[in-house]
Amino acid sequence: MKKIEAIIQPFKLEEVKEALIAIGVEGITISEVRGHGRQKGHKEVYRGQEYNVDLLPKVKLEIVVSTSRADEVVSTLVTAARTGKIGDGKIFVYDVAEAIRIRNDDRGETAL
Ligand SMILES: Nc1ncnc2c1ncn2[C@@H]1O[C@H](COP(=O)(O)OP(=O)(O)OP(=O)(O)O)[C@@H](O)[C@H]1O
Ligand SMILES: [Mg+2]
Repeated sequence: MKKIEAIIQPFKLEEVKEALIAIGVEGITISEVRGHGRQKGHKEVYRGQEYNVDLLPKVKLEIVVSTSRADEVVSTLVTAARTGKIGDGKIFVYDVAEAIRIRNDDRGETAL
């Protein structure tokens, strides 16, 4: 199993969600996050204190799927989330050791 973590532009969330549903992705976790990539932005000084004003709102999606489906999910994410401009986001892929459905103790891919 793989966990696919995607950090995307918030305005792309609906389009990305629909694209994932269209390929049959079932479980998804979504969080509102803030971050920056390599542009890093600038720092602002206010009353002698330095503040980061470069942490931009993003949406983080976490999806765990069977290893055989991971490539399809990644390419769907890339296609749906891309505008071609800086800040489009990033995708990280992790190996998942185990999944457990709490209700009935299903394990592994059965639990997804
Ligand atoms: N190396 C990283 N580790 C963790 N989170 C990251 C990393 N790079 C980017 N992110 C997250 O992804 C978001 C979007 O990154 P972004 O698309 O700006 O990446 P980038 O490398 O600057 O690419 P681009 O040049 O296209 O903007 C960031 O706001 C941050 O939340
Ligand atoms: Mg960037």
